[in-house]
Amino acid sequence: CIMDFETLRTECLACRRCDLCETRKNVVFGQGVPDAEVLFVGEGPGANEDEQGLPFVGRSGKLLDSYLEAIDLSRERNIFIANIVKCRPPENRDPLPAESEACMPWLRQQFLLLRPKIVVCLGRVAAQQMIEKNFSVTKRHGEFIEKQGVLFMATLHPAALLRNPNNKPLAFGDFVALRDKINEICTHTYNR
Ligand code: URA
Repeated sequence: CIMDFETLRTECLACRRCDLCETRKNVVFGQGVPDAEVLFVGEGPGANEDEQGLPFVGRSGKLLDSYLEAIDLSRERNIFIANIVKCRPPENRDPLPAESEACMPWLRQQFLLLRPKIVVCLGRVAAQQMIEKNFSVTKRHGEFIEKQGVLFMATLHPAALLRNPNNKPLAFGDFVALRDKINEICTHTYNR
């Protein structure tokens, strides 16, 4: 692949591949280190993310950051956070299939540049796009699934945990399993 991360970002920020470009304030390209071994993938920007142009900066982002910090991960130091769609769907509805399809080439390029060892899907929309069509996060969260040499895992979306705090221990268990897997297979995530 010829393009570097900054070039990809610049092109992505000018994207007009779907109608979400008409209502967005900012494209949310993603945030993190360009040599991350662990890639987190959410669904799409909400109102706060659209305002700031950064992923997971609202209430669910604060919760996500607390889980990350508990296992010594942060977007400043050792991971990358992206979304299935880079522009906010109006009224926070799920992305339409046409919007996800139009946007996926950006995530594919990010994936090709990073070559992550582990991809963590945050919630159903990311899991069904990245792992398999009818994937059940409720039934299969925390499971590591190998696809072409890359491990994929899904956990509950932080916004779902805010709606149902009873599920927080389940998600926390997934992060502990993630820490163990990073210790097994990653070379520099915890060594920088
Ligand atoms: N929810 C998501 O799925 N992604 C974000 O970036 C913020 C909230």
